[in-house]
Amino acid sequence: MLGLKLATDPRWAKIAEENLEEILTDHAWCEQKAASNAIHLIVYNSEHEDLVSELTEIAIEEMQHFQMVHNIIKERGYELGRERKDDYVNQLVKFNKKDGSRNMAFVDRLLFAAMIEARSCERFRVLSQNINDEELSKFYHDLMVSEANHYMTFLKFAKKYSTDVDVDKRWKEWLEFEGNLIRSYGNNQAIHG
Ligand SMILES: [Fe+2]
Ligand SMILES: [Fe+2]
Repeated sequence: MLGLKLATDPRWAKIAEENLEEILTDHAWCEQKAASNAIHLIVYNSEHEDLVSELTEIAIEEMQHFQMVHNIIKERGYELGRERKDDYVNQLVKFNKKDGSRNMAFVDRLLFAAMIEARSCERFRVLSQNINDEELSKFYHDLMVSEANHYMTFLKFAKKYSTDVDVDKRWKEWLEFEGNLIRSYGNNQAIHG
């Protein structure tokens, strides 16, 4: 349903479970970045009332996710720690089209967001199905559902506003690029690691 070209090896979930404090810290900051991205889209595309309304909901939900992860960190006696860089997302940023019309850049930014939601959703599914920790397994299942909805929202708006873009073709390019990119990951204690 997500269209991803390469599934995550479940062995990645074992690496994650052995490094829970680090995974939770990285995860918390992923949620913050997702909220910031939704806010960025609102600020730069405020003429689209429907987008502003739905992305406001998403920004709030992402900060609620941040709060939930932070609560788990506190309950377990861990520390949030400093923001973690996300190399995978930084590589996707480079694929983001910045030339062309303002609208093309807007649509591509929506596809970029949909791409990250799709992979995050898949990673949460792999975690929920492969870790032994029952609380976290349930938690990641719930987040998987939420991120799947975000993925659909971003793709919906990309299609709606794709007046000067062949959005289906461009989405296929994103999936191809991401499928090649993710081959070099899967060995690290990070949500997109
Ligand atoms: Fe989230
Ligand atoms: Fe999300």
